Amino acid sequence: MDFFNEIVNLINLEGITKEEIAQTLTVSTDTTKGDFCLPCFKFSKILKKSPQAIADSIKESIINSGKKLVFLNEIQSISGYLNFFIDRKVYATQILSTILSDPENYGRNTMGNGKTIVIDYSSVNIAKPFHIGHLSSTAIGSALYKIFNYLGYKVVGVNHLGDWGTQFGKLISAYKRWGNDEDIEKRKLTALVELYVRFHKEAEENPALDDEGRYWFKKIEQGDKEALAIFDKFKKITLSEVAKTYKRLNVTFDSFAGESFYIDKMQPVLDKLEEKNLLTESNNAKVVNLDKYNLPPCLIIKSDGTSLYTTRDLAAAFYRKKTYDFYKCLYVVAYQQNLHFEQLFKVLELMDCDWAKDMEHIAFGMVSLESGSIKTRKGNFILLEDVLDEAVKRTKQIIREKGTVLENEDEVAEAIGVGAVVFSVVSNSRIKDIVFSYDKILSFEGESGPYLQYTFARTNSVLNKGKYKNCDADFSLLIDDSSYSLIKTLNRFPAVIEESAKRREPYIITRFLLETAQEFNKFYIDNKIISEDESLTKARLSLTKAVSSTIKIGLSLLGIQCPEKM
Ligand code: ARG
Repeated sequence: MDFFNEIVNLINLEGITKEEIAQTLTVSTDTTKGDFCLPCFKFSKILKKSPQAIADSIKESIINSGKKLVFLNEIQSISGYLNFFIDRKVYATQILSTILSDPENYGRNTMGNGKTIVIDYSSVNIAKPFHIGHLSSTAIGSALYKIFNYLGYKVVGVNHLGDWGTQFGKLISAYKRWGNDEDIEKRKLTALVELYVRFHKEAEENPALDDEGRYWFKKIEQGDKEALAIFDKFKKITLSEVAKTYKRLNVTFDSFAGESFYIDKMQPVLDKLEEKNLLTESNNAKVVNLDKYNLPPCLIIKSDGTSLYTTRDLAAAFYRKKTYDFYKCLYVVAYQQNLHFEQLFKVLELMDCDWAKDMEHIAFGMVSLESGSIKTRKGNFILLEDVLDEAVKRTKQIIREKGTVLENEDEVAEAIGVGAVVFSVVSNSRIKDIVFSYDKILSFEGESGPYLQYTFARTNSVLNKGKYKNCDADFSLLIDDSSYSLIKTLNRFPAVIEESAKRREPYIITRFLLETAQEFNKFYIDNKIISEDESLTKARLSLTKAVSSTIKIGLSLLGIQCPEKM
């Protein structure tokens, strides 16, 4: 039953449409004043009656209508407000039977059926370690992937690898000069980064090196066997290294088509740009002029004839439209690239791609660590791997300090530590810059991942202790304030998931879960869940089960694991 609409249907006011009533009816925050409230002030002018008189007349007409109002307990007309009190027994029964009919799929729906969403996220660069800068794209993109999937969309996750550009020529040149296979085998990306850094240092003194770098990149472009073999090796090393991190983060992709994939797919795009007369020459380079739109010119072909990041993104956009026929194509990329995406989308629009409107840049802010809170293994990079390890290490300490003995301590510490790091990213509005501290993200009491996991584990232990089997219970016993308030919160979950998808903001789910956990903990303190009273015990266990599965679904949509015990 949709209580809101039921109430809207009850209210008949001549001269006022149902839409206006629906817009005016609010969900009360203070439950002593009812569950829904209709302030009658704005109707006063139209109806030429006082708000109080209007409220009185609506109340009277509802009562006189003779309709059976099973779900309403009381209607109050006070100072121009009409307050509706829902019958808590009906409410509890209605909501909990819905959730518990299929608790593992609560909130799942089919609104996205038949629609494909492409999400470009993480998109790491070859021969570079997975650093903290790629965490947000990875965690936010992966959460959006799971959320849209839950709503019935077909989702295609793309890791648009950064695997093209002159830097790879330089890397090959460095490798040819100083590379040592054994060392690379052992230290992987660290060794590759060192080679790259050394190249730059030496090139300062010996500029001829740059020519050598260009020479090797030309070789890659020409498909030279040796160059490609070396480059392929670097790519394999990078992918197998980042795969470890993806596994820890519980992140997957459907495609790893990176920049190099589009090299042979750019010509048709260039032809189309020519055909539409969009290209102009500027210092031997080819650009699309965007003066009219208050944007700098978009560089398409460099003066030496080579392509750019944007050129490859143009080709990728066409490829994705053709291959997936997407309903939306999302790019989860830091706000530093705002201009790049503005230009990209504008050029597509000028090329008369009607689907340019379906491309969205899902921007996010920077993540940094409190200074001094981490030692990096090498260089200026803050490696994500190091951050995860540190979080896991500290989690173990906390578990031991608490005196908890767990047979699978390593597993649990991994789930909590990694979960805490992911949570710190998905619990903020995307665009906010984040500075995180280990103490804050690992706090079991604060607004943190561990707090939610802990609440889940607590529901689980109650369910085990009470030997919860099924939802065969009398939910109408759950009418005390904290039970009622908790059920009301749970009822919002489906709408919360949709809202989070609509705004492309995972934090909407995070915030909801924190509220649910707080409500549950209040319910837990106010009520003895397992008692002598068998019916009441069953009912309270059922509510606990509803909370438990809701938290689990919510966390898994964010890519965070739920240990059964902690
Ligand atoms: N590899 C790029 C970077 O690390 C991100 C690529 C984002 N995706 C795209 N289609 N441009 O900054």
